[in-house]
Parts: sequence; C-alpha cells; structure tokens
Amino acid sequence: MTESTLDARTTEAAVVLANDPGWWRQAAVYQIYPRSFADANGDGIGDLPGITSRIPYLVELGVDAVWLSPFYPSALADGGYDVDDYRDVDPKLGTLADFDEMIAALHAAGIRLIVDIVPNHSSNRHEWFREALASPRGSAARDRYIFHDGEGPDGTEPPSDWQSMFGGSAWQPVGDGQFYLHLFAPEQPDLNWANPEVRADFLRTLRFWADRGVDGFRVDVAHGLAKDLTYPLRSHAELEAMRIGAEGSHPLWDREELDEIYAEWRAVFGEYDPPRIAVAEAWVEPTRRHRYAAPTSLGQAFNFDLLRADFDAAEFRAIIDHNLESVVVTGSSNTWVFSNHDVVRHATRYGLPADHGDDGQIGRAWLLTGGVAPTVDVELGLRRARAASLLMLALPGSAYLYQGEELGLPEVADVPEADRQDPTFFRSRGTDVGRDGCRVPLPWTREGSSFGFGADGAHLPQPAWFGAFSVEVEREDPDSTLNLYRRALWLRRDLQDVEELAWRAHASGSDDVLWFARPGGWESITNFGSTPIELPSGEVLVTSAPLADGRLPGATTAWLRAAAAG
Ligand code: NOJ
Ligand code: CA
Repeated sequence: MTESTLDARTTEAAVVLANDPGWWRQAAVYQIYPRSFADANGDGIGDLPGITSRIPYLVELGVDAVWLSPFYPSALADGGYDVDDYRDVDPKLGTLADFDEMIAALHAAGIRLIVDIVPNHSSNRHEWFREALASPRGSAARDRYIFHDGEGPDGTEPPSDWQSMFGGSAWQPVGDGQFYLHLFAPEQPDLNWANPEVRADFLRTLRFWADRGVDGFRVDVAHGLAKDLTYPLRSHAELEAMRIGAEGSHPLWDREELDEIYAEWRAVFGEYDPPRIAVAEAWVEPTRRHRYAAPTSLGQAFNFDLLRADFDAAEFRAIIDHNLESVVVTGSSNTWVFSNHDVVRHATRYGLPADHGDDGQIGRAWLLTGGVAPTVDVELGLRRARAASLLMLALPGSAYLYQGEELGLPEVADVPEADRQDPTFFRSRGTDVGRDGCRVPLPWTREGSSFGFGADGAHLPQPAWFGAFSVEVEREDPDSTLNLYRRALWLRRDLQDVEELAWRAHASGSDDVLWFARPGGWESITNFGSTPIELPSGEVLVTSAPLADGRLPGATTAWLRAAAAG
C-alpha cells in the first residue's frame, strides 16, 4: 500500500462521510472490543485513547466503519453488556472528552462509528435499579423493571421456572417477597419496555450519542425487549418448545410490539443527516429478520447463518441465495459475519474435527474436551478461514469483521480458570467454557510486555504463541492474513453497490466449487474441496493461498477480473 493511495482514500472518504446516506450498505465494519484492543495508559485494560492511537492501523486495513462494543460504566459482570449509565464512558476506558477525540479522529480518517446499545437490560448498578430496590412493590420505580411476587405457599418460589441464558434461574429474589427478571446474568435486570418512561429514556440516549456524531447503533438482543408477562406464566419447557422467531407469539422473543418501539427509534435516526443507522442482533429464524431489517425499523439485522455453517460449498450457497432473496423483501442490505466477541474464532472453528457436532454453542462445547492442540487442525482452520473471509468480502452487502480475525488469530482455548471472566463459565459451573478465548487482548508486537497491547500486562493472559500473529510480524509478511485482508478490503471498494451476483458453473462440475460474478467484471471462486481445480480465465487479483501450478488448491479462494468480452 503506498502512501499516496492512503492519502487519496482519506480525501475521498471525507467526501463520502458528508454525503452518502447509503454508506452502510456495502460497508466493511470492524468490531472493536474496547477492553482488548489497545491499552494507552498501561493498566492492562484497553481504552478509548488506545483506539485513537491505532486509527492509522484501521486506515491501512481499509475498513469503512468501527462497531464499538460497550464502553459505558460497568462492573463488567458481562463484559460491559451490564451498563450502569447509558450516557457516559467507563472511567476505566476514558472520558467523554476521549470519546469526542476518538470520533473526531475516526471521522477525519474517513471511518464511521457505530456504538453498541444495550436496551434489553441495564446493570444492577444503574440508578434506576438502585431506586427500584429501595422502593416498595408496586412503585413507579419498580415498574421500570420486571418485578413479580414469589410463588408457593410462603411466596419464596420464583414466579416461574425460567432459566437465564447464562444458566440458573432467570428470577432473582430481592428479599421482600418479590423477584426481578434477568434473562441474562442477575447483574442484568430486564427493563420493562411497556413503560413509556423506559422508551423515552432510550430515545434520549440515542440522541445523546447521535448528537456527538455517532453514525449508528448495534442493538443488543434486539428481539428481546417486548415481553408478554401476563399470568399464568408458561413453563420453561413450554417456552423451549416454541421456536424463537417462528410463526406465532413467543412471550419473550420477537414480539410484534417491537415494531412500534423501533418505529420510534427510526424517527430519531431520521432527525439526522445522514440518518443514523442501526443493525439488530436478533437470533431469529432467517425468514423473520425483516422485522428488524425493514427500513421503517432498525434497517439492518445480523445474519449469523454463515457463522453457524460448516465450511461446505452447498451450505454456503444455500445461505447466500436465501439472504440475497431476503434483502429484496426488506429493502435492506446483506450482513455477513464469521466471528464476533460471542463465538469461537472462525480460524479455530474451521479446524475442529468434522464430527464436532452442532453443540448450540458454535464450537465451544468441543473446546471443553481438551483444548485446541492436538485435536484442532490449526493450519487447516486458518486456511479455510482465509478462504471463507475472502469469499465473504466479495459478497454484496456489508461485512462485519471482529478484531483479530484480520490476523487469522485462533481462539485461546486454554484461558486458565482463575483468569476467566465470562459469566457463562461461572453460571454453567464450567460446563460452558464461555467466551473469554476470543476476547484476549490483541498482539501488536512480536515480543514485549503484552505483545504491544499495553505497557504492563493484559487483563486476560495472552499465550506465548500470540507474537507470531502480531501486527508487527504480519505487516512484514506479504502472505500474511493481515495483508490478505488489506488487499481484499482495498479491492473491495471497487465492487458496485448492487445486491446481486451471478453464479457460474465450473467446468469440473465439482460440488465443492462456488464461483460467482459481481457487476463490473469481478469474480470470486472458492474451492471447498481438497483437489486443485482449473482457474477460470481472467486476471488474478488476490488469492487466499498460493496457487498450485496455476490451479486453485483446496480450501482456497481467488478473486479474478474477468477478461473483457469480445
Ligand atoms: C449479546 C452480546 O453480544 C453478548 O456479549 C451479551 O452477553 C448478551 N447480548 C447480553 O447482553
Ligand atoms: Ca487502559
């Protein structure tokens, strides 16, 4: 990458930032988990000034936007998804002034900012929740959350047998005969979205950040806000039997009342120029994503289909086809994602033995059975991850990338028990290893204290092998995963904003090949199998692994510019 290309991009992007309301449709969005990205003050915790200091890296990488996971004041009972105050910065991460500086620097570099918003639950340290605990049953303060009297002869039983997502009862007693609902950790009491005060306060929060220049929002548990809690409550088994987001009304998930809530949010987004955007985290059936992706609603919804899929041509093809059809219905654009802060990194997932099964935890259950080596094929995992990512970056729609995947970083499967932080580990009593393994602070340098993450250690320990995946090492290696992502992200800017692709049939007739063309003569071809295949004609722009005598080897993707017709 020459300096002049970077300069040109910065100038061009500044213009786009001011004018393009559709900027998100094809954006490459880079997720930053702030506590694990870069630590500027050397206390072992990544922070906002750390992010600001690494903006040149993001520019070099070629991403269009950053999605910032929660940076709000928090006791970190759930990695920051337990928010004490929605309109402030965690003092461990910086100040509002640091935030303003960060966003100004991102914008000046041509990079947008999406912030995570956590509306389903606050933390138990939020001033509202403290007030609720100090107030009597039936009070307005308790009505901002979901309180119920206990059951049983003496009222000491929880209102239902519901289990929280992190294990254990979803109801917590408060000592006066009432219980509150927490679908996640007990430190995350669910807010009552039937209460107009809760709704109004979130509109205030959206404006607070939008006024500070935030370009959009990633909406946590977007399918969970509206609930039907009329008595009698159904049993846990009954709820489990109702598929989330399938047809019919589930008391907890994907309810129709959400449409009204997000219509209010949409009106706020529309107060800004360009309108603020939002992307829903909604674990619903693919056919039900339109509730969130519709232009009258949040506008975009994560599609986790590829993230859940095996490295398999037929599975990928079906998912791509289905999602291309869906955006025609919603008017949204596609969202593609392989990794995030909740799942085993895809470089490791793709190295799991074929029979690892669908454990419902996307690879985590397998990791419990003995760590990565020697049962995970690290080399194959990375090779496939590179092929899959290059394929994804050629698809129409926006690509959501998780910090470290551009380094091909594997999961840290053996985080010592004493260092674990994720509530899923504790609440499941270790039957789920949790998500710490994908949240280990990034390696920036080959050696040194915390591999350049900060001056003095890292809040989750980094293994010795991290240095080999560092930015410093990969920057110098032309064949590194980092340089693959950089090349692909830069080339990707030329892809046209058309939600279309045309499948091509490969001469070999192999079921292991996915080959498609994008408008403008771009083509991407992936060999999911193990036998090298003939490359179609055209200029080879980038490949995820070296060609073998001019042929496309197994677990490899190539981008081509088709030879001009005639
Ligand atoms: C989804 C987030 O991605 C995850 O990290 C969090 O634990 C839950 N929502 C609860 O907020
Ligand atoms: Ca710090």
